[in-house]
Amino acid sequence: MEDFFVQHPLFRQISRLAAEQQKEAYLIGGYVRDYFLKRPSKDIDIVVIGDGIQLAKKLAEQIPDSDFAYFKNFGTAMVKTPDYEIEFVGARKESYNYLSRKPKVEPGTLEDDQLRRDFTINALAINLSEQHFGELLDPFNGLQDLHNKIIRTPGNPELTYSDDPLRMMRAIRFATQLGFEIEENSLNAIRTEKERIRIVSKERITDELNKMLLSPKPSVGFKLLFDTGLLEIIFPELHRLHGVEKINGKGHKDNFYHTLEVLDNISTTTDNLWLRWAALLHDIAKPATKRYDTEQGWTFHGHEDKGSRMVPHIFRQLKLPLNEKMKYVQKLVLLHLRPIVLAKETVTDSAVRRLLFEAGDDIDDLMLLCHADVTTKNEFKKIRYRNNFELVKTKLKEVEEKDRIRNWQPPITGELIMKTFGIAPGRNVGIIKDFVREAILDGDISNSYEEAYQLMLEKGKELGLNPV
Ligand code: CTP
Repeated sequence: MEDFFVQHPLFRQISRLAAEQQKEAYLIGGYVRDYFLKRPSKDIDIVVIGDGIQLAKKLAEQIPDSDFAYFKNFGTAMVKTPDYEIEFVGARKESYNYLSRKPKVEPGTLEDDQLRRDFTINALAINLSEQHFGELLDPFNGLQDLHNKIIRTPGNPELTYSDDPLRMMRAIRFATQLGFEIEENSLNAIRTEKERIRIVSKERITDELNKMLLSPKPSVGFKLLFDTGLLEIIFPELHRLHGVEKINGKGHKDNFYHTLEVLDNISTTTDNLWLRWAALLHDIAKPATKRYDTEQGWTFHGHEDKGSRMVPHIFRQLKLPLNEKMKYVQKLVLLHLRPIVLAKETVTDSAVRRLLFEAGDDIDDLMLLCHADVTTKNEFKKIRYRNNFELVKTKLKEVEEKDRIRNWQPPITGELIMKTFGIAPGRNVGIIKDFVREAILDGDISNSYEEAYQLMLEKGKELGLNPV
C-alpha cells in the first residue's frame, strides 16, 4: 500500500513542499477510499494542519499548465492540473447550526478533522510527512469497514446526520454504488433524522438520486430510501406506487417493486441515465388511474398518457433539466405499452409503421424499456412474450428497410398544399396534411411523392378546392 504513495511523484512533491514550509499534510477522503477499492479517481483532498493556501500556491507554481484558486474565508485552495483536481483544506473542527448545513469552523487536529467526516471509509488518511510517508492513519477502523463493506459514521450517527442531512442520501448512495451495507445504528439514525432532509437543496438530493440510478443495481438505493422513510419526503409520487390493494380477494401487483425490477433489468443493458429515469417513471401514474372493475379486475387505463403528463411536474420538483432529456423521458413513458401490445396481437405492417413514426430514433431505447418491463414470474408467459417480442423486432426491421419511416417527414407539407390550391393557412391545410400522412402510415398508399400528391388532389377536391 505504502509503495503506491511512495512512488507517486505528486504526493512526493507535496511532501517536500510541506517539509519546506514546516507543515503537516495528509491525503484524505474519497481518493484514499477509492485507492483501496481500486477505483481510479482524479479528485484529491489534502488536509493541512494550519494554513493550506501557501502550500497549494507553491505546488501550482511548480506544475506546468495548472490553475490555482483560493477561498480565504474558507481557508481552502484548489490546484487544477491536467491530470488531477487537488483541494487543500486546513484541518478543522466543525459545529453546526440547526437550521443550516453550513458549519461554524475552527482550526483543529487531524483527528478532529477525521471525526467530523461522514463515514469511516471516508475518514482514512495517509501521512505525507517525510519521516512517516505513506503511513495509514485510521482511528475509526475505516479499512476494516471497507473490507467488510460497511457504511458507518465515525461519530454519533444521529449527530452526524442531523449536522449535515445530505449524509443520509450519501450513505444510501454509497451503499448502492459500492454494494455495501449501512450499519444498524446508522440506519436507525437515518429513520430518526429523516425530516432533517428538508433543509437540503433539491439539486443536491437529485445529484445523489442520479448517482444511485447510475449504479449497477439501483433498486438497492430506492428500497433503502423507502425503508428509512426518506422516499416519502423527497419523492412522494414514487412512494405512492408502493402497496397492494385488495377487493373481493383480488389484489394487483405492487407497482413499486415491479418498477424497481424493471429499473434493475434495464440497468443491465444501458448506462443511459435518461433511459433509467424512464424506467423509474414508466408506471408513475398507476396509482392515479387505478380502478376496480367487477369483470376485468384491476385496471390502470391511460396510465401511460397520464404518466407522461406527470413527468414535467416531477422534473421541475426535482430540478432535473426541462429540455429534450425530459421530452425523451415523456415520450418513452407515453409509448411504453405499445411494443408489448403489438407483441400480444397480430403484428400488422401499419401498426409497426405507426410505432416507428412516433418513436423515431428512440425506437431501440423503447424496445429495451419494453423488454425490461416483462417481469412476470410465470416462465411460460415470459417465454411467450419474449418470442413475440422478437417477432416485433424483426417486423420493425423489415418495415423500416422497406418504408424508411424512422425520422420520416411526410412528403406533403403544409406549404405545398397552400401553393397547390392557392389557399392561406387554415383548417383545410391541416385536414389534407393529416389525411395523406395517415394514409401512408396505414399502408393505403405507398410512401412515394407521386401517390401522396395524387391523394392530396383528391382530398382537396372533396373539400371543394381546385389546383391553381
Ligand atoms: N464529506 C463529508 N460530508 C459530506 C460530504 C463530504 O464528511 N456531506 C467528506 C468525506 O470525507 C468525503 C470528502 O469530504 O470523502 C470529500 O467529499 P466529496 O468529494 O463530496 O465526496 P467523495 O467522498 O470524494 O465521493 P464522491 O466523489 O463519490 O461524492
